[in-house]
Amino acid sequence: MLKNKQLQTWIEQMQALCQPQDVVICDGSTEEYDRMWELLLASGSAKRLNETLRPNSYLVRSDPKDVARVEGRTYICSDEEADAGPNNNWIAPDEMRAKLDQLFEGCMRGRTMYVIPFSMGPVGSPIAHIGVEICDSPYVVANMHIMTRVGDAVLETLGETGDFVPCMHSVGRPLLDGAVDVAWPCNPDDLYIAHFPTTREIWSFGSGYGGNALLGKKCFALRIASAMARDQGWLAEHMLILKLINPAGDIKYIAAAFPSACGKTNLAMLIPTIPGWKVETVGDDISWMKFGADGKLYAINPEAGFFGVAPGTGMDSNSNAMLSLTKNCIFTNVAETDDGDIWWEGMTDDAPAHLIDWKGNDWTPATDTPAAHPNARFTVSAAQCPAIAEEWEALAGVPISAILFGGRRATVVPLVNEARDWTQGTFFGAIVSSEKTAAAAGKIGELRRDPMAMLPFCGYNMADYWSHWLSIGKHEGADLPKIFYVNWFRKDANGKFMWPGFGENSRVLEWVFNRCAGTADAIETPIGNLPATGAINFSNLDLSDSQQKELLQVDIDGWLSEIPLIREYFAEFGDRLPAAFNNQLDELQLRLEKTD
Ligand code: OXD
Ligand code: MN
Repeated sequence: MLKNKQLQTWIEQMQALCQPQDVVICDGSTEEYDRMWELLLASGSAKRLNETLRPNSYLVRSDPKDVARVEGRTYICSDEEADAGPNNNWIAPDEMRAKLDQLFEGCMRGRTMYVIPFSMGPVGSPIAHIGVEICDSPYVVANMHIMTRVGDAVLETLGETGDFVPCMHSVGRPLLDGAVDVAWPCNPDDLYIAHFPTTREIWSFGSGYGGNALLGKKCFALRIASAMARDQGWLAEHMLILKLINPAGDIKYIAAAFPSACGKTNLAMLIPTIPGWKVETVGDDISWMKFGADGKLYAINPEAGFFGVAPGTGMDSNSNAMLSLTKNCIFTNVAETDDGDIWWEGMTDDAPAHLIDWKGNDWTPATDTPAAHPNARFTVSAAQCPAIAEEWEALAGVPISAILFGGRRATVVPLVNEARDWTQGTFFGAIVSSEKTAAAAGKIGELRRDPMAMLPFCGYNMADYWSHWLSIGKHEGADLPKIFYVNWFRKDANGKFMWPGFGENSRVLEWVFNRCAGTADAIETPIGNLPATGAINFSNLDLSDSQQKELLQVDIDGWLSEIPLIREYFAEFGDRLPAAFNNQLDELQLRLEKTD
């Protein structure tokens, strides 16, 4: 079955290093999935939820010290420190290898070593890539079954000589001398999530949670894939992919990058408020895009499931997500109801009178800590989403017409702004930022820069990544997507959100769609192309004329005071900053000063 020599050798080496009790090559079958749950139920890690209310679903509580991605312990071990850039933690590859050798030696004693062959993207798609995760956690195996395509078809595609990304993972808690296991083994004091972009390897030690442990997601599909994409001329991005259908039945695919907590999953599953429009979901978190023969960028969602943040998700905010979660789910660190179901803050307006919280303690609405951990997660197959697009697994991917970049800005940045060209669009992506705290209206707050929403996920120097984006714009025969900078989070003088968001965002999507179709008007302004008066449908919204104007205003003074901050940020990248960005800034400043 294991015909790939390189894989066979690697498994043997890892077995010798980690010294597990036994080795299982995962086949991705339902029997295997069920077996993982038998183990997790027996060890006390998991609980089966009420079969009538939430069929075939499980609740898992993690160790309270292992609840989220740990960016401070995430490393890019490029050969040179400068290649990791100021956006990453760096440790020299040799030093990290020595550390990892020591940590992984014997780390799986008393445990089973699982070998998970997985495909990121539909098996056999020319845009997909293969990884193999070795791990000692049945919880990870079960999650990987949902989040990726696992099993024999992957090994078949890998063949005898195919390449894969080796993803090595251990919870870092060997069971010595028959010791009894804890419910959630981990080793948070010795945490390392290390990436080697040159040799395309991932080594993760000490955490069993989410992005630290499900190595196909952030580690492979973003950090390692971004380095592969740079070398091979494609894009690996932190973007949702949606299918937008107009009332005439015409279709456009849109990719969109937003930092965490800016409503990415909600946008991917949006229900338009404007009549006749429809959104379907292709992906909610990651997009891999490669050029097709027609010069268009074709995107796949490399994942097979959603690993979504549960709190804040409810029938009001995202009914498609809620309806995806009716069965066959894994819930981690949510609260448990008295009838054996799940609950989290934001699921319903009123909390149940009694719950067991994410730590396993009694909870009532009077308790002053949240019932679910703020980073509690659901894991569910994307196929269960009622809004999933029929072509979400198309091997060729879907052609992208528009890319949106968005941040969370109370001031300065208008509701939507179309870049004149790819270079300006890349510049827009690079200057995306969110206010750390609510800024007083008219004043600029402290900004967290999160270029292309890739700050924690770019596997190399961000300035080189920007150069790569610019080079994509020069691809011969390219028929590039239009790029837009959107901001749903503008506030008025009283600190209230001006734009209603959620389903009303379809009004902006309509303008984006029509710009791509060549049927909507824009006006050229110093900052980019803004919707002409009347081009965005504001009808039946509770927005005064002056609010409508303000949402689409060019805030000359605001932008002028922002320019030095952008220069200061860009200066961190020294001479690796693409010259085109300084030109963009100089020209922007000139245009603004002329209008002032
Ligand atoms: C995620 C993240 O989990 O961006 O998707 O952190
Ligand atoms: Mn994400």
